[in-house]
This record gives sequence, structure tokens and C-alpha cells, in this order.
Amino acid sequence: MPAPIVVASNRGPIAFARGAGGGITAKRGAGGLVTALSGALAASGGLWIASAMTEADREVAARGRVGAEGADASAYELRYLGFEPESFDRYYNGWTNRVLWFLHHYLWNLPQTPVFDAETGEAWDAFVAVNRTFAEAMAEEGDRLGPGVAFLIQDYHLSLAPAMLKELRPGARIAHFSHIPFAGPSYMRILPERFRTALLDGLLGADVVGFHAPEWADRFLLSCRLLPGARVDLRRRIVRWRGREVRVRVNPMGLDVEALREEASRPDVVRATDELREWKGDTTLLLRVDRAELSKNVLRGFLAFDRFLEARADWRGRVRFLALLNPSREDIPEYAAYVGECIRTAELVNERWGTDSWQPVDARVRDEYAQTLAAYGLYDALVVNPTLDGMNLVAKEGPMLNTRDGPLILSETAGAFQELQRWALAVNPFDVDQTASAIASALDMPADERAARRRGLRAAVRRNPPSRWLDSQLSDLGLAGRHTPAG
Ligand code: ADP
Ligand code: F6P
Repeated sequence: MPAPIVVASNRGPIAFARGAGGGITAKRGAGGLVTALSGALAASGGLWIASAMTEADREVAARGRVGAEGADASAYELRYLGFEPESFDRYYNGWTNRVLWFLHHYLWNLPQTPVFDAETGEAWDAFVAVNRTFAEAMAEEGDRLGPGVAFLIQDYHLSLAPAMLKELRPGARIAHFSHIPFAGPSYMRILPERFRTALLDGLLGADVVGFHAPEWADRFLLSCRLLPGARVDLRRRIVRWRGREVRVRVNPMGLDVEALREEASRPDVVRATDELREWKGDTTLLLRVDRAELSKNVLRGFLAFDRFLEARADWRGRVRFLALLNPSREDIPEYAAYVGECIRTAELVNERWGTDSWQPVDARVRDEYAQTLAAYGLYDALVVNPTLDGMNLVAKEGPMLNTRDGPLILSETAGAFQELQRWALAVNPFDVDQTASAIASALDMPADERAARRRGLRAAVRRNPPSRWLDSQLSDLGLAGRHTPAG
């Protein structure tokens, strides 16, 4: 019998909203975690517990468990947890995304940030409270589902929940998985000791701690050495802590290619494809798709394009750079400032090189998923240059939908690099000259090489089916998956 699954993550698969007619409408949640887990859970069934993030989510939360209405996820149940908006803001914006996200992506400007004070203290308290609510909800749902439940806790928002759940239900089988990088010990030392210890101790409440890439797993293991009394076996990737043995695993998330293709065949994507084709005319299309997010390195991407145009007069007037930036974490001042700077830089490139009939960069900060899927089909080269990224699913999705053998320019520091590097054009994300050269190589590339790289990229994505991620975690927990028997 496959194990019953309880997934917990901050963001759920569906964002609810009040429609114009007063009814509740459902829309896909943003980001790689939702993309990846929706596929995995739709195949296995189970229960997904997530935070209510909007007013309409909170209304849905009040109803208890629901089927995933209006979405493609009827195979599993959904339970949204409602929080008081001010505490949720402290937890989500104040702690998880202003402290933990910055920590694990090395985003601080150390002469000025971070500053730990009473405000961060309140944010931490809210973070503890939200984690406790998740742990209690998981314990309750686990009791309802009976023995042999697999608790799959996702991402940095819920770093404390594994230990809290273990305390509530010592026999619970718990996996924690990070969809982002993990800071090494030097950077972890920036956090005051009480926070650092609580975070590591929280994660080590799981039986298995998972990451997308070996580097993140190794940095976590090295960070565990900061815990007095922890015994870390780097070679076997095991931490002995509080009398238990915690396994650290590398388990890169695969892409649900069939689900993606199905979404891409929707009528709104077909319409968006026609519009983009008209917009692009006979120009060559350079594309980037990201959340409007500091770690995605949008700014250096535009600077690299500027250098490319400077060096390559022959491409002026013939290529357009389309940046589809999905709005993200808009209440955080650093995000608003960064997006503003990206737009200003795009405008400067346009002022410098543009003409009456040619606008080199089009940066669109909008939530338009159909347009994203349409653009994947049409690009001539895709730029994925994050400074640091846990995985980056865009790098996998683009090549699966693209119809023009467009090369992939990919940061060495993205988790996806380990699977795709052989077929991508590698860049150091901080080196704008190298990125400019990679743009030139991609656009100049002969047709046979483009086709060979496209085949290589697709085969690499196909080699890692999404079922593997889930089944590996279940077998690491000693439970039977949908595709594998118990280990
Ligand atoms: P991250 O998790 O940091 O956002 P990823 O590249 O791993 O980065 O994942 C981004 C995911 O969000 C991709 O699956 C992409 O297709 C999806 N996406 C892009 N635009 C939208 C949108 N407007 N709404 C919902 N999902 C989107
Ligand atoms: O993939 C990393 C991640 O932080 C997920 O946990 C999250 O759902 C996604 O990015 C999008 O971010 P947010 O949920 O803050 O919009």
C-alpha cells in the first residue's frame, strides 16, 4: 500500500481571490515549489497543508479541508491555515523572506544589513508561532490518516516544524526538503546564536533533510558543526543529534513534462502565442522568465545585453530581449527597490540603443502565466542567470516547450546546472562580459549545434521524472511510494 502523504508548505497550489461577481476564483500559486509539488501530489494523492495568503484564502481556510476547486488538483485534499494578517506579515515578510531568504541566497549588503533588533525579534516570534500551528495541524491530520503517514515538510518557511512535529509525535516519519540553497557556516554565523541553533535544531527534527544539489547539502552538513554536541559525518551525509541519526539527501526535483505540455496547449496560451508572434515580427527573441526577485539577477542580465549590443552592431535592430517578471513579495522594500532599478536599467538600454522602430528590451512586471508558456515556445535563446538558485525550473521548462532549438544560457550557481551543464552555455552570474559573450554565442550558434544541445537538454530533463523525487523521499523514510516498494 502506498503511504498516505501529508505535504506542508507555506504557499499552496492555489491562490484564491474574490472575483468581480463576488464568487471565489482559483488561480495557480506562483513559484517552483508549487510547480513541482502539484505534479507529485496529483500523482500520489494525499493532503496538502498551506498558509492562507490572501483574504479569499482565509475564507477557504475557515471551511477546513477542501478539494482543490477549479484547479487540476482534484486528486488530493487541501487545508489552508488562516493566520491573523499582522502576524502572518511578520512571519512571511519579516522573517522568512527578509532574513532567511537573504541568508541562504547571500543577499545581504553586510555594511548595512542585517540588523537584529526588537522588530526582528517580533518577526521571529511570529515565525515560531506559524511553525507551531503547522506542526499541530500535521499531527492532527496524521492521527486522522492512521499509521504509516509520510510528512513531507517543504522549504525554509517551515524550518522549525520538523522538530516541533517530532516532539508532538515522536514516531512520525518526517522529511524536510529545501527548494532553495543553504548558507554555509560562515554566513550562518551572521545569525545570532539563538536563531541559528533553533533553525538547525528545527531541521534536524526530520528523519531526512533534502536538497536539490550536493553543494547545498554539504553546506548544511558543515553548518551543523556549529551545533555543540552534533556529530557530522560528511562522507555518509549523516548528522547524529539528540540521540537520533538524521540523513541528508540530494534529490533534485524533476519536471512533469506531460502536465506542462498540457497547460501549454490551453486556448489562452495559443492566443498569447499569436500575440507574441505579432509583437516580435521577424526579430530574434532573447527571453528571461523569473519571479521579480533579487536572486534572479535580472539587473546584470540587462547590463550584459547592453554590452552585447555595444560589441555587436550587426545585431542592433534585429534582436529583442523580453523579460517576463512575475511580481513577488511586493511588500518587502528591497524587492520594490530592486524591481525599480531593473526597470530603470532596461530603460537606459533602450535609450542608448533603441530607435523609432526598435525597442531592445521589453521588461513586463505582470502575472501572466499563459504569456510565459507562449514565450517558452518562441524564444531563440533563454537567459537563466541567477546569482544563486536552489533549482530553477524555468531552465528545465523552456527547453521542453521551445520550438526553435533556442540555446540555454545558465548560471553555474543554479541547482539545475548539475543536470543541464553539458548542454547549456555556462555563465558566472557576476561576470557580465562573459554573459554578453554567451548571448553572442547563443545567437550566432549554427543550426546543427543548436539542435544537438536542444536534444541533450530534453534528454537530461526526461532522465529525472518527477515521481523519482517523491519516491526517493518515501523510500528514505522506509515507506512504500507509488512507484517503489518500501525500503
Ligand atoms: P522560483 O521557485 O524561485 O520562483 P523556479 O524557476 O524554480 O523559481 O520556478 C518558477 C515557476 O513559476 C516555474 O514553474 C514557472 O513556470 C512558474 N511561473 C512563471 N510565471 C508564473 C506565473 N505568472 N504564475 C504562476 N507560475 C509562474
Ligand atoms: O522555490 C522557492 C520559493 O521560495 C518557494 O518556497 C515559494 O513558494 C516560491 O519560491 C515563490 O515564493 P513566494 O511563495 O514567496 O511567492
